[in-house]
Amino acid sequence: MERENFGSKIGAILAAAGSAVGLGNIWRFPIETGRNGGAAFILVYICCIVLLGMPIMMSEFMIGRHTQSNTARAYQKLAPGTPWKWVGRLGVFTGFFILSYYAVVAGWTVEYACLAIFNCFRGMTTRAEFEKVFNDFASDPVMPAVWLIFFVLLTHFVIVRGVARGIERWSKILMPMLFILIGVLVACSVSMPGAASGVEFMLRPDFSKVNSSTVLNAMGQAFYSLSLGMGCLCTYASYFDRKTNLAKTTLQVVIIDTLIALMAGFIIFPAAAAANYGLTPQDIGPSLIFITLPNVFQQAFGSLPVLSYVFSVMFYLLLIVAALTSTISMHEVVTSYMSEEFNLPRKRSALVETTLSIVLGIFCALSFGVMSDVKLFGMTIFELLDWTASNICLPVGGMFIALFAGWYLDRQLFRDELTNRGSVRAPYFRALIFVLRYITPFLILAVILGNFGLF
Ligand code: PFF
Repeated sequence: MERENFGSKIGAILAAAGSAVGLGNIWRFPIETGRNGGAAFILVYICCIVLLGMPIMMSEFMIGRHTQSNTARAYQKLAPGTPWKWVGRLGVFTGFFILSYYAVVAGWTVEYACLAIFNCFRGMTTRAEFEKVFNDFASDPVMPAVWLIFFVLLTHFVIVRGVARGIERWSKILMPMLFILIGVLVACSVSMPGAASGVEFMLRPDFSKVNSSTVLNAMGQAFYSLSLGMGCLCTYASYFDRKTNLAKTTLQVVIIDTLIALMAGFIIFPAAAAANYGLTPQDIGPSLIFITLPNVFQQAFGSLPVLSYVFSVMFYLLLIVAALTSTISMHEVVTSYMSEEFNLPRKRSALVETTLSIVLGIFCALSFGVMSDVKLFGMTIFELLDWTASNICLPVGGMFIALFAGWYLDRQLFRDELTNRGSVRAPYFRALIFVLRYITPFLILAVILGNFGLF
């Protein structure tokens, strides 16, 4: 079967950046920054990106582009007859798990976009009112599942069109939309009266707040935010052409992802300051974007409700776009695996993944209502999937990718891939191998042990 490629360099970059930029940038990064010492956290985060994010991303790109196959087969080709193929298979499972719960939250963003469009927050002033809206919706047995199905089908619609006409084309439409939305939102937010203290809050370095847990949080955040450890970028790189400069693409994706995360902070904190709303460390994850922020946006413009309206609608559209480009990449990991390993037509394998994710996703969606008492290890199904995928599967996958690239793989092959067989220079190569061998795996081990409270 003829394998498709991305048709253009910019398409490849936007697709990979689309995978990286997602809900993780908007609902986690700003708050982690705020509660971990502002600019001090940003510095630690950048170190994590350099020591952990970029080496793994380059390794994933190299493995995918060299083998031109799905993530499981990639390891089989490079290490035939060894258990390394399980690293790829773990990635496929992780992709399926993450898509199933991530699409639930993505579905909530659609509900909230509708609430914003129909101006349903008008006149609401207290946190309790916003909490009630969210709790009533999330515990409803029908609507969250309906939006989940809608979102997975939206993803499906892009995936079945293929790599160039589906993923690339939609990334070229959605990513510029995302840049415009976020640019306008930042400009509005920082120019609100009273916003300055919010900007300062994010940029003031407070080194007294930096401790070992700050570093662990920064590492975990870098992983999740850059979509590392589950073969997502490996799969996308298998569609890169031979001329793509892998190191340059890595740098571009990392810069886009980090800038968007910082910009999300410049939306949230200035708006909260303008609304005189004190954000607390609990304002992280779903409660930030579905309870706190609608309230903040409602109050931030004071006597100009029309601006609150426009701002809220744009913010939820931004979330939908960011989430969609990420769910597409998760879906693709599983679809390409099933279609290539089981020799299924792409459309059929996409349908299987869509169906499986909808079924598991429905259980996750119901975890906030009728199934909230169904718990395993003290966690609901939603929490269990999130915890296992983010705290175990991604770091374990990433650690093995670093070990594979640093210790197992033939160095010449690695170098040839990074230099496009000698046509670009790779002066960083020795340093990269050193980091992959002696630094990245140990840092990741620390994240994993830290997640179990052993560090
Ligand atoms: N990077 C995405 C975000 O920041 O929301 C989440 C994600 C996408 C994680 C794809 C893992 C993945 F493979």
